[in-house]
Amino acid sequence: MISDKMLQLTQNNSVIRAMFEEGNRLAAEFGRENVFDFSLGNPNFPPPDAVREAIIDVLNTVPPTEIHGYMSNAGYPEVRAAVADSLNRRFGTEYDARGIVMTVGAAGGLNVVLKTLINPGDEVIALAPYFVEYGNYARNWDGALVVVPANPPTFQPNADALTAAITERTKAVIINSPNNPTGVVYTRETLQNLADALTRKSREYGHPIYIIADEPYRELSYGTDVPWIPSVYRDTLVCYSWSKSLSLPGERIGYIAVAPDAADYELLTDALGIATRVIGFVNAPSLMQLAVARVLDVQPNLAGYAENRKLLYDGLTALGFDCVYPDGAFYLWVKAPNGDDKAFAAAAKQYNILIVPGSSFAGAGYVRIAYCVAKSTIEGSMAGFAKLAGKYGLSKLTSDN
Ligand SMILES: Cc1ncc(COP(=O)(O)O)c(C=O)c1O
Repeated sequence: MISDKMLQLTQNNSVIRAMFEEGNRLAAEFGRENVFDFSLGNPNFPPPDAVREAIIDVLNTVPPTEIHGYMSNAGYPEVRAAVADSLNRRFGTEYDARGIVMTVGAAGGLNVVLKTLINPGDEVIALAPYFVEYGNYARNWDGALVVVPANPPTFQPNADALTAAITERTKAVIINSPNNPTGVVYTRETLQNLADALTRKSREYGHPIYIIADEPYRELSYGTDVPWIPSVYRDTLVCYSWSKSLSLPGERIGYIAVAPDAADYELLTDALGIATRVIGFVNAPSLMQLAVARVLDVQPNLAGYAENRKLLYDGLTALGFDCVYPDGAFYLWVKAPNGDDKAFAAAAKQYNILIVPGSSFAGAGYVRIAYCVAKSTIEGSMAGFAKLAGKYGLSKLTSDN
């Protein structure tokens, strides 16, 4: 018999993944071009050419024993130094290689950080709506996820609500901006208020409360400034990933960054490097470490995402849907017309449109539409969305029901 904990995790298996499977089933039945799958944050654009060139360069110039061998658990020293230099150039910071731990994507980074910080019964705060896996990650290390809602219409988290949720057991707050699922970018003012609250509470309880900045969408913003969280709060551990920015989710590559003045820096960085080994991934994929170090300044396909964003936002707004304007990431957060997100997602499925109910992200009453898809998927879906709008009485267009 499997463990009680895994039994519970298996039974709570992600709704999003289930929808992905459902998309494949519908595609087999109706043809891929007739299914409009907005369920998963799997980038449709290929990685920039520079990524392929970097991989080839690694293969052609680095001895195979170095490319494919073991290295320090935290990653190749020169890769960690290159990441630190790149951050220092961009943000005026003083990272050094020691504070950079290469990870298996953001999911790997988050688990390494949580394993490093959590004692059984410790609390980690998530600001809802949030990436659905946080709860599993916290529970995996015997921590508890405490949820603090960020409210409509702005979905900017509120410092008073955060303060009220902090207890002596609070170890960390996960902040994800640009946000999955809302597409909202937290403003500097929001972050400063949250940071002030954490500083006060850390002092009150006599131990640091860390921010875990989950940043796979850092580069995906459409003209809006994405504040660098360590510049407002010292005790921040950044978890970055190239999954979204360079369309490399299957390659599993990212890093954790800890600034030298963070609380318990030496112990923390040592422990992070050991946690990678205890968890069992040991080190981040070696070839990809060497490749990403060569493309640190390469930008994502922002023009493509911006075009999708406009097409979807303008199209759905014109049909009468109430959408949160997305400043970042590649998700549109749409109000379920009568407040029932599950019923709305089920109704969309009747038109072969796959969208995820917001309750999967602790954001009931909304749905998430991932627009990291082909432009033709958005264009092709509009007839179905028009019928949905009609069904819910939003527009004058006819409904087929
Ligand atoms: C907010 C957020 N955090 C973490 C992850 C995991 O990213 P990765 O694939 O790099 O592990 C995702 C993936 O969708 C995400 O949306």
